Amino acid sequence: SAKEPLKVMISGAPASGKGTQCQMIVEKYGLVHISTGDLLRAEVSQGTEIGKKAKEYMDNGMLVPDDIVTDMVISRLSQRDVKEKGWLLDGFPRSPSQAQSLERIGIRPDIYIVLDVPDEILIDRCVGRRLDPATGKIYHLKYFPPETEEVSARLITRSDDTQEKVKSRLETHKRNAEAALPTYLDLLKRVDGNRPKEIIFEEIDSLLQQVYNAVNNKNLDE
Ligand code: AP5
Repeated sequence: SAKEPLKVMISGAPASGKGTQCQMIVEKYGLVHISTGDLLRAEVSQGTEIGKKAKEYMDNGMLVPDDIVTDMVISRLSQRDVKEKGWLLDGFPRSPSQAQSLERIGIRPDIYIVLDVPDEILIDRCVGRRLDPATGKIYHLKYFPPETEEVSARLITRSDDTQEKVKSRLETHKRNAEAALPTYLDLLKRVDGNRPKEIIFEEIDSLLQQVYNAVNNKNLDE
């Protein structure tokens, strides 16, 4: 019988390591990675109407209005590859209204992962972050420096990764951190994100395997 693909939500403060863990999850599980931050940054760099509206909020470390982000996510979730491969939602939902929009159309994850990292670590992680525009890979000047000179030469910095902007993103996060939790309390798994990334992934990997088995064995019983 056909296996049911996984449906995963991952959340956590700015620079808690969501994107880094998502790259490892996608590599192993082949889920469709839907990052609202990545989708919004693509709109901004393409200069679309959505991008023009979103830019100011993002530059100030504030949440982009719910309707813009929710439409984007729901339209991505309705594409065909998502049904076949499963999904990994990164950075959404971030407000009760975003969570309720998914609930209303019956979209619910199998697991809701929260990465816990102390504040004092987060600023350093943001300020040292670099991205490879060619591969999308996430680096850090201190913790994960680029492998070659060639990669190093093309790395870019996110415009919201300055010390000042990170502080305001952290404040926004604190105000909204618990916003989506009540909707997913029964699916909640907290993971200590202040460890080496491979160790964090081992824990997430084992959680995902448990959930995958539970979902698919349940279907066998039906
Ligand atoms: P978004 O792109 O989601 O940003 P964020 O939540 O601030 O999270 P980050 O992408 O900064 O961090 P991350 O957790 O992915 O960490 P990473 O793996 O890169 O959102 C950006 C903006 O878009 C928001 O401010 C908002 O305006 C808007 N937006 C997005 N979603 C929205 C929504 N739903 N509603 C409304 N508005 C929305 O790691 C960070 C660094 O640390 C890297 O350098 C990495 O190499 C390093 N690192 C990772 N793991 C480790 C480790 N274990 N040890 C040491 N270093 C590590």
